[in-house]
Amino acid sequence: MNDSVITVAMPKGRIFGDACRLLRNAGFELPDTFETTRKLILNLENLPFRFILAKPVDVPTYVEYGAADIGIAGKDVLLESGRDVYEMVDLGISKCHMAVAGLPDHGSNHPYFKIATKYPNIASDFYRRRGEQVDLIALNGSIELAPIVGLADAIVDIVSTGQTLRANGLVEYDRLMDISSRLIVNPVSYRLKKTMIDEIVEKLIRATEGTKVGMD
Ligand code: PRP
Repeated sequence: MNDSVITVAMPKGRIFGDACRLLRNAGFELPDTFETTRKLILNLENLPFRFILAKPVDVPTYVEYGAADIGIAGKDVLLESGRDVYEMVDLGISKCHMAVAGLPDHGSNHPYFKIATKYPNIASDFYRRRGEQVDLIALNGSIELAPIVGLADAIVDIVSTGQTLRANGLVEYDRLMDISSRLIVNPVSYRLKKTMIDEIVEKLIRATEGTKVGMD
């Protein structure tokens, strides 16, 4: 870990645009090429920041191991990964929710036995709390396929616009939790670079004012 530089793990893909807009609003002068480059490590000119562009699901891993000092990660990814990081700011961006969904004719009282999901930990915690026993089928994407082709009775997945559910003729049965992106921090980095990280936290809090959903 370089003591004078802050390494920021950024989530590539869907959240990336929102995260860049927020950082710019917070006063970070990210170059225009930031969103289009294929480079995975980006330095800011004359500023002590280094950005690494990771798959969203891997951001907490980079931060827990100290390969990045701080990162931006969805609450869904944080809950699922259970990584040992400080969650310092609800950034109020990339809002969506976690839901149970399936075909309309199953109804909410149907005992769904097979649940397909990319969130097996969140799903198993949800059903354990409800005292229901289910078989979890872990998938990596296109979860909505599972109930349509008979792989599962329902899915646990994130819903943003609801378009994917609608386009595939699925409906929500239950809403589990609201999701938004969070600023996460490596505990050792926070001790060693507290002043720099606190400054970033303050800038981000100011930039996110008015956009928050409740912290869990
Ligand atoms: C996510 C999620 C849903 C979809 C929800 O998948 O798993 O499939 O987005 O968004 P919507 O409500 O706006 O339609 P993602 O696009 O990340 O891709 P994946 O299927 O490969 O996981």
